[in-house]
Formats: sequence, C-alpha cells, structure tokens
Amino acid sequence: MTAIIDAILNRASESRLTTPAPDPELLDRVFSCAARAPDHALLRPWRYLVIEGGGLDALGELFASAADDPAEPLAGDKDKLRRMPLRAPMIIVGICSPKLHPKVPEIEQVMSSAVGLGYIALALESAGFGAMWRTGAVAYHPVIRQGLGLNDCERISGFLYVGSVESPKPAVPRPAPDDFVARWPG
Ligand SMILES: Cc1cc2nc3c(=O)[nH]c(=O)nc-3n(C[C@H](O)[C@H](O)[C@H](O)COP(=O)(O)O)c2cc1C
Repeated sequence: MTAIIDAILNRASESRLTTPAPDPELLDRVFSCAARAPDHALLRPWRYLVIEGGGLDALGELFASAADDPAEPLAGDKDKLRRMPLRAPMIIVGICSPKLHPKVPEIEQVMSSAVGLGYIALALESAGFGAMWRTGAVAYHPVIRQGLGLNDCERISGFLYVGSVESPKPAVPRPAPDDFVARWPG
C-alpha cells in the first residue's frame, strides 16, 4: 500500500471537534492540496473562506438571520441555527466560482470544487485533525450566500467543520467494491 492509500482507507468524518484548529502553516499546505484538484481548462473555479473565533459567532448570527427572511424564511429553531457553527473551532467554506467557458459546463466546475474540498478534508485528516463536510439548507439560502459574499453565480460546495477529534465516532460500514464496481462490457 502507498501512504496515500493508507490515508484514504483510514479516513472517516468526525463530528465531535474541539480546539486546537490547524495552524496557518498547515492550512497553507492544505490549500495547496486543494489547488491540485483536477480542473478542466484550468479555470480555478473555486475559492475558500476560513472562519474561526468571533467569525463563528458571526456565522451563527447569519444563519439565524435567515430564519427572519420574509421572502424565504429558513426553517429551524433560531438558537439552534445560531449554535450550529460552534460545533468546531474552524469552518472552511468551499465555494464553487464557475466561469463561462465554451467547453467546460458548470457541472464540471462544481465537481472540481468538490474534489478540492475533499482533498482538504483528506489532507487535514492525514495530518491528525478531524473534519466533517456539511451542507443542509444553510448552504443554499440566499441570505447566507450573500452574507458570505458569494455572487449570484457562486455556490457553497460545503461547510467543512475542522478541529481536533474529541471522541472518534463509531465506524461507518463501508460497501465492498464488488457491490458498486462492474466491468464493462460484462
Ligand atoms: C456534499 C456533502 C454534504 C454533506 N452534508 C452533510 C450534512 O449536512 N450533515 C451530515 O451529517 N453529513 C453530511 N454529509 C456527510 C458527511 O460529511 C460524512 O461523509 C458522512 O457522515 C459519512 O461519514 P464518512 O465521511 O466517515 O464516510 C455531507 C457529505 C457531502 C459529500
């Protein structure tokens, strides 16, 4: 096995996260991993926001404010929405920033941005940190998208909750390759 295969086979999302969060030096390496995501026509259709400290409180306020949106009130208890970002000491927001291109449809750019966020999660996990990719209604609400500075074309690919693992979650059963891989033509 290679180190990268071992890292992938050992990875699992962790929801119980605490301080410390990764330091700036590690984050820099990790975002360099994101920049290795396959990227048709090198459009760089992704960007990221790092949120920690008071920024997490501000994100909680933004989530809660979406519940008061008269046009499209976000469902859910406001206090619960406010506390959501406090489940980890750091959140990395993955943003797909699609570019107009004659040969590269938006779906390919969304996929590239998802691969980048996946690389970030894997890199952090292999460095000993925990991560959990979350979306939910907060990822799609216009008030939240605007509050985070997204333009009309951009989408949130995920909120990656990041921190040190407080207590590992029970193992998730993994399907065997035979269950989802076939040869073609059979
Ligand atoms: C795009 C995307 C969005 C997700 N959103 C959520 C979410 O909002 N809440 C959640 O509990 N898990 C969410 N997940 C799943 C978790 O990140 C995680 O993959 C799942 O709990 C399985 O754990 P594992 O990564 O160890 O296999 C999401 C995964 C993806 C790829």
